Amino acid sequence: MPVSFSTFERLKSKGVAAYKNGEYLAAKSYLVDAAECMVELAEHAKTPEARRQHEELATELIDLAKDADRLHKSPQKGRPRRRAEKEEEGGVDASDWIVKEKPDIGFDDIAGLEDVKQEIRLKMIYPFSHPELAKKYGIAIGGGVLLYGPPGTGKTMMAKAIAHEIDATFFVISPAQMLSKWVGEAEQNVRKLFDAAKAEDTSVVFIDEIEALVPRRKSDSSTVMQRVVPQILQELEGFDRKSDRALLFVGATNKPWMLDEAILRPGRLDAKVHVGLPDAPARYKLLEIYFGDRPLADEVDFGELCDRLEGYSGADIKNIAEQAAQIPFMEVVAGKAERPISRADVLAVIQQNPPSVHPSDLVRYEKFAGTGKQQEPAAE
Ligand SMILES: Nc1ncnc2c1ncn2[C@@H]1O[C@H](COP(=O)(O)OP(=O)(O)OP(=O)(O)O)[C@@H](O)[C@H]1O
Ligand SMILES: [Mg+2]
Repeated sequence: MPVSFSTFERLKSKGVAAYKNGEYLAAKSYLVDAAECMVELAEHAKTPEARRQHEELATELIDLAKDADRLHKSPQKGRPRRRAEKEEEGGVDASDWIVKEKPDIGFDDIAGLEDVKQEIRLKMIYPFSHPELAKKYGIAIGGGVLLYGPPGTGKTMMAKAIAHEIDATFFVISPAQMLSKWVGEAEQNVRKLFDAAKAEDTSVVFIDEIEALVPRRKSDSSTVMQRVVPQILQELEGFDRKSDRALLFVGATNKPWMLDEAILRPGRLDAKVHVGLPDAPARYKLLEIYFGDRPLADEVDFGELCDRLEGYSGADIKNIAEQAAQIPFMEVVAGKAERPISRADVLAVIQQNPPSVHPSDLVRYEKFAGTGKQQEPAAE
């Protein structure tokens, strides 16, 4: 018999409810069934990562079932506090699954992307730093921005820097985590996340790899996603108008054409910002950032390297600097005389490492930027 997520969820929620009501015998039986269901889902998981997450969840359920069994047999012994219970009592304090930080990288740490920074200043930063003026001119505070572009161009970095620039608390949701941790209590947890974000003076809620959360093909997503996504969308729409506390929402993706149109509607991720490959001045700055603190031979010419590195992303350039530094380092470890990184080291590493972004991919981003609509790729 094929099992589905909805069967699993039904069994699990019945089990958890029975456990909470102290009906331990019933709880045990539902939880064991739910765990078996999860084991079967794990066997059919599409990726090793999903499989591992499913197996972990099954183990958690078995632990809870064992607990229920023990409590059924000796009810007088104190009930141990399970995670689900602690969360319920804890109100908005769900700190074991909400990732919350105060990033310390700012716009100055990001090479290039001047137009992106300017757009973000206009939409997200100046309305905060000049609230009276913003009110006067009717400029909205808060809202959502989608950062899209090829891998390794600084989207995740940019999201953190936005939080830093407005001194906001940064909340991160990863769709993969949602699936593993939030099954069963997903709606409740979305609520808690947004409540925690709203409790701060200013916060940035960041969803990385957002295409995994809101894929266009509904059939790809599990029932959890189908219930949670509309709820997230609703929270997004509500939050800039609900209170004077400011909440920004940032999503990042390198597959913007896979997004569901619902998330791009006004009031949600309505501002779309293309984060592209670094131009020549940005590549120069990247070389300064990543070679700057390393011993470098005088013959190394950043101007020359800058030309050689056209088409490379920020992450590629960082990687090249690291690999180039390894060459003299390994020699010195092996007993040779100390020497700085040479031009030949850097060129050899560039030779071995073509750009990670293929030119044909760039065309897709430009098409998406041009039309603002989804482009169905030829093959995904
Ligand atoms: N413009 C940049 N300035 C400085 N460093 C950069 C820049 N772009 C990329 N990097 C470096 O590359 C690393 C990867 O960047 P980041 O994770 O922000 O990329 P991304 O666009 O989010 O990629 P992905 O789409 O794969 O998630 C960063 O940690 C940083 O070290
Ligand atoms: Mg990223």
